[in-house]
Amino acid sequence: MSAPTIPAAQHAPSSSGGPEQPEPPPHHAAPPNVPTKEFFDTKGLDYETIYGHNAGLLKAVDKFAARLRPGCRVLDLGCGTGRPVAHTLAARGFHVHGVDFSETMVGLSRTAVPSGTFECAHLLDWVPPAPATDETDQELFGGIVATSSFYELAREQMETLVSRWRGWLAPGGAALLMMVAAEDVVPGTRPEMYDADGRFARGIPFRFMGDDCFLYLFTRAGWRALLEEKGGLVVREQWAGAFVPAGQADCDAEMNSFFIVEKEEG
Ligand SMILES: C[S@@+](CC[C@H](N)C(=O)[O-])C[C@H]1O[C@@H](n2cnc3c(N)ncnc32)[C@H](O)[C@@H]1O
Repeated sequence: MSAPTIPAAQHAPSSSGGPEQPEPPPHHAAPPNVPTKEFFDTKGLDYETIYGHNAGLLKAVDKFAARLRPGCRVLDLGCGTGRPVAHTLAARGFHVHGVDFSETMVGLSRTAVPSGTFECAHLLDWVPPAPATDETDQELFGGIVATSSFYELAREQMETLVSRWRGWLAPGGAALLMMVAAEDVVPGTRPEMYDADGRFARGIPFRFMGDDCFLYLFTRAGWRALLEEKGGLVVREQWAGAFVPAGQADCDAEMNSFFIVEKEEG
């Protein structure tokens, strides 16, 4: 595959005279050239065929489930088709509440996980249901999962979303994040793609389900800092593992980074 050209808009000079950086997208505008809601509406089950058997993700869900209070509520942000994450958690007795902006994905999740509840919303618009009683802990989630679901968000949007997790998690609750780190993308990043703090890179070329996309990703250190500094969460486990989609999938191979974090008790 020949490397695609980064759109000119991403090279607009910054007003500060510092390194060239794109303007952050407005509140709900996704960064340019990432898979959109319409993309996922169209792909649906094709996504599950290619990515639904990621052994590294299944292992991560096992580790995460072992940390959760039995039977607790788990919020799945960007739940996709419901397989493998929501389905695996539901099979272990957790109540999964999934959120996804694709009607197609929400429909597939409802079929795959009949015991779960699923709603169609943009992750930045989603708010937890108001507590029915004063016992607000009952309404909090024991766990949050976000696996490969930040690709359509700008840096500032990822920071906003993660800063809300602490308020959604019960004390002692855990979250699982799986994403790719900027430095792990093949064929690689260039120095000018990075923000001044070196924690985030923009416009990284990537082949995804037959499309040439541009990814907007934190580095591994950046993901960790996002969870600790914006999320106020404690990193309990961090590791990385390769995932190679089947040859006919027309996707680049991935190095997935995993983080399991906790909200401390009290
Ligand atoms: C790459 S798929 C991952 C699905 C699932 N988490 C998994 O690991 O199999 C990303 C999912 O997140 C959803 N998504 C992406 N950005 C979103 C947003 N801003 N709001 C709601 N859903 C979003 C997409 O519709 C898609 O179903």
